Amino acid sequence: MLSLNTKSIVILSTIILLCAFIYKKKSDTLQKEKIHQVLHGLLRAERKVGVDRNTRIALGFGGCEDIFVDAQDLLQGLNYTVPSDPEHVTDILSETDFTKIFTYFFKQGAAGERYVENATLFSEIAKVARSVPGARTALGGNAPAMATRLAMEGAEILLAARFTQEALKLMPDTIKAGSRWGNYTASRANRFIIHSDKSNPFLDTLEDLEAVLPAFDPSVLVVGGLQMMDNFPFKQGVRKERIEKLREMLVKTDRSTKTHFELASFSDETLMREIVDNVVYYSDSLGMNEQELPNLVSILTSGKIALVSDSKPRIASVLDQMRVVFNLLKNTEEKDGKRKLTRLHLHTLAYQAILTQKGSDWKNTMAAAAKASLTANRHVCGSNYIDMEKAKLLMDESFSTTARVEEASKIPLEENRPVSCWSEEEFDICLAPVLVCTEVFQTGGGGDNISSAGLLYQI
Ligand SMILES: *[C@@H]1O[C@H](CO)[C@@H](O)[C@H](O)[C@H]1NC(C)=O
Ligand SMILES: *[C@@H]1O[C@H](CO)[C@@H](O)[C@H](O)[C@H]1NC(C)=O
Ligand SMILES: *[C@@H]1O[C@H](CO)[C@@H](O)[C@H](O)[C@H]1NC(C)=O
Ligand SMILES: *[C@@H]1O[C@H](CO)[C@@H](O)[C@H](O)[C@H]1NC(C)=O
Repeated sequence: MLSLNTKSIVILSTIILLCAFIYKKKSDTLQKEKIHQVLHGLLRAERKVGVDRNTRIALGFGGCEDIFVDAQDLLQGLNYTVPSDPEHVTDILSETDFTKIFTYFFKQGAAGERYVENATLFSEIAKVARSVPGARTALGGNAPAMATRLAMEGAEILLAARFTQEALKLMPDTIKAGSRWGNYTASRANRFIIHSDKSNPFLDTLEDLEAVLPAFDPSVLVVGGLQMMDNFPFKQGVRKERIEKLREMLVKTDRSTKTHFELASFSDETLMREIVDNVVYYSDSLGMNEQELPNLVSILTSGKIALVSDSKPRIASVLDQMRVVFNLLKNTEEKDGKRKLTRLHLHTLAYQAILTQKGSDWKNTMAAAAKASLTANRHVCGSNYIDMEKAKLLMDESFSTTARVEEASKIPLEENRPVSCWSEEEFDICLAPVLVCTEVFQTGGGGDNISSAGLLYQI
């Protein structure tokens, strides 16, 4: 017979609470220990490779002044109200368009970048942004962002970017996971970028870059910043003409110089197709995030774009998408300046994956994945030193190599050897967990920063 008086119930629940507390304490300690081991494993892998001071890298395009502000503070400063019907709008003409598309991306936890056609609106937003307490300004744009990172790592850089007064970009930054905007909650830390740039969309430094490229003779030519062309009101035919001019430069680029194209968020289907035809097929290497990847898969397989996708896709499905892209581009016939794809770098919040073709010239894939992963933390936390108190692991204990059940193998995340590398028929691939920064300093410009760090270790 069981009889419990009040006193024994109190004692019993105290014991249960105590057990729960000890258990929690133990799992916290285990988690800390795990982060410690992963960090040291990544740092070891990073140290294996030194950067040759004579490495030369050329980059284009886009240059601007970035203003980083907290999205919450900016919207408050602007007195903008939450729209009841967030939706995707292509041209931002009015305050309503801006709040609609901002909320659309905010709600999805997706990154976005859009052109603001209404110059009055843009200057209004920029004026308030500058006055928001804590706003920071920096030279920005894809190419300058990558150049800054590469120079910090010790490479010699040739940069094609123009900084003009009106080339202004605004990054409502540090949208933290769990941030609220009216009825909506952001599912993850993210950014939304708007720009009102009238010179970069024309890639007007293209001719300058082309002229000096042969003499500079870089190991890699990095092309980025083409999203500046997205939804920009070009006169009939001008955009295509500029993209074709870019293709001509890529065609002329010596085969000893590798070409890397850094994707971005594109919403204009025709532009994306033009970019695939004139840039992607001329690139040895591609860099992108997990939202740009399905967009590329979609345009390559169906000619259509995918605007917003799953913000936390399974690793297995992401790897499958990487295989699709690699398989579609690896056999590109190398004529008229086209190049086979031999490298694919995928950067995500939780991990970095770098795929290289077997027998290609890309070196040190494991160190490069570790480097990219460490750079992700350093960039977002805004510090070179990685503080374990501000880091967490989002990756699970293990992942499947493919979503196709019969072919899948499970790869555990081994704390003391955190970068997992394996080979498939035609490629080698390494995947490194990211020690996700929990005290977000900035997310904007992250992709460029991370991609260039990985690239530098592979040439
Ligand atoms: C927002 O509202 C406040 C208070 O009504 C006002 O002082 C401020 O000027 C407004 N800001 C803008 C950008 O209109
Ligand atoms: C917020 O949610 C409430 C309740 O679901 C709804 O009545 C209201 O219209 C929503 N407001 C907006 C701006 O969507
Ligand atoms: C452009 O923005 C200004 C300022 O917000 C606004 O007054 C004007 O109506 C907008 N123009 C269009 C065409 O929506
Ligand atoms: C890249 O990240 C580092 C942090 O390690 C930061 O200092 C640097 O400013 C970033 N570069 C750009 C252009 O965002």
